Amino acid sequence: MKVRKAVIPAAGLGTRFLPATKAIPKEMLPVVDKPTLQYVVEEAVESGIEDILIILGRHKTSIEDHFDRSVELELELQKKEKEDLLKTVRSISDLANIHTVRQKEPKGLGHAVLKAERFVGDEPFAVLLGDDVVYHEGDPCLKQLIDAYETHDASILGVQTVPREDVVKYGIVDGEQVDERLYTVNGLIEKPGVEEAPSNVAVLGRYVISPDIFPVLKKTPPGKGNEIQITDALLTLSEKRSMYAYDFKGRRYDVGDKQGFLQATVEFALRDPSLKESFKEYLRSLKL
Ligand code: UTP
Repeated sequence: MKVRKAVIPAAGLGTRFLPATKAIPKEMLPVVDKPTLQYVVEEAVESGIEDILIILGRHKTSIEDHFDRSVELELELQKKEKEDLLKTVRSISDLANIHTVRQKEPKGLGHAVLKAERFVGDEPFAVLLGDDVVYHEGDPCLKQLIDAYETHDASILGVQTVPREDVVKYGIVDGEQVDERLYTVNGLIEKPGVEEAPSNVAVLGRYVISPDIFPVLKKTPPGKGNEIQITDALLTLSEKRSMYAYDFKGRRYDVGDKQGFLQATVEFALRDPSLKESFKEYLRSLKL
């Protein structure tokens, strides 16, 4: 079945980025000139997704406003004959059919995904974390996973290998490599200690999941950090049906982390034709 729907959880507390995230969600922090969440929505759209559900938390209005029309702003830009900016602003609200739902309390990523049950219905769906940006010049990360889903007719986790000491930050796959970029998922463990990690293959914020996850999620008790973990539900699902991990191509940034945010900012600025040369010159002048 075709993957047409995507869910973007953006209801976390963003404690790693306080105080910036006191009044705005971390998914709205800009990388150069676009909020992180817009990069994620664009990736979904470029991967063929038609309907997107954003899971909102306590600061819901800035996200809803960003993807809605802004008539006053458009009129003002029109009056000032700022045609390029007008086009940019308008194009955001035309990106896709964007729906929203509220997660009243941040009880974990699994709990956030469960809020999408009615929206998803009986179809396979994508999950893209709202604070993970992946840059790739060819097929977008999600498109690569959707292709793998369509080939194998099984849930696919987007993974990359990480340095051994970083396994403590991610869901880690216990699996066997069966193809250049493909692993079977035989086990999964959320944020293991370096010693207990079965591998350094980490799940990095992109998934294509079969709708059978919902009954499993409903029965999944709180796990690590007392949160309902998507990793725990995926582990249960993998025991019933085959599941794969796909080592996607692309440079991934954890924008919810200060270091990742700064790396994204510098690298996207260096890719921006209007900033590239002057910014490079500035970086060189720092003589670190
Ligand atoms: P994170 O674990 O990175 O988000 O969740 P967090 O809890 O906000 O982070 P810190 O550690 O406090 O800084 C990954 C994604 O899942 C969403 C987050 O918004 C983020 O996009 N999320 C997490 C939810 O939507 N609901 C939750 O209950 C937890």
